[in-house]
Amino acid sequence: MKKQFLVIANCKQGGRAAFFDQMLSELADCAVFDDINLVVMPPVPYLGQLVRSSASGFQWGVQMVSGRSGTAWTGSYDASMVAEIGAQYVCIGHSERRQHDRENSSVTISQYQQVVEAGLTPIFCVGETAEQRAQSQTIQIIEAQLSAVFSSDCFAKLPKHDIIVAYEPVWAIGADKPADAQSVSTEFSWLASYLTAQFSNGQHTLCYGGSVGPGNCRQFARLPEVNGLLVGRASLDIEAMKGVLLECSGY
Ligand code: PGA
Repeated sequence: MKKQFLVIANCKQGGRAAFFDQMLSELADCAVFDDINLVVMPPVPYLGQLVRSSASGFQWGVQMVSGRSGTAWTGSYDASMVAEIGAQYVCIGHSERRQHDRENSSVTISQYQQVVEAGLTPIFCVGETAEQRAQSQTIQIIEAQLSAVFSSDCFAKLPKHDIIVAYEPVWAIGADKPADAQSVSTEFSWLASYLTAQFSNGQHTLCYGGSVGPGNCRQFARLPEVNGLLVGRASLDIEAMKGVLLECSGY
């Protein structure tokens, strides 16, 4: 069996207080926490209340932080704030934020630095678009996304830390026709060797994300390099989420 398997619920801008209350009670009954590490990333307004009311077994994350220091950033929050509330993980570089919120490499570098300095674990998302894949640029794109951080000036000065890298092909997110595990196995082999060579700061964990649900999670969990899943839409369906947890328990 693999080491404790990670399931990350990326709730995006979904769910309301009543939904999260129900999620907490129903997933707590799932009793799979011996071999599953469940991280929920709710919208930030719900985080504090959820951390306070959750049973043991749940871990918490947020979907982004500003990466900026100082106070004059209306609408922003930094990593030390979410650490204080009880988050342990922060998602960085999600394709929806790269695409719609103009989070380019220089933004992801400052977010990464802020997350690690706050003692939190980055969940660093990488992935190529359908066009980039069609032009055989996948490895080049994900390498550029990772090396932007690893070769930045601030990276060398960061304290020892672990990293979670989520390979999420953009074309597989929110897709009608999801990827199958075989079609992304080359990328995972490449990522495993790349991280072994380039990331010596701590441990790395590799996750897959993109239209994961109870019906296909096992095929990704079976890939030898994959030790976790990032679940988007299905995390807003409690039965589907229970299905994912139960299917992945034992991997
Ligand atoms: P999806 O989203 O599971 O709805 O495709 C995954 C993600 O964006 O992290």
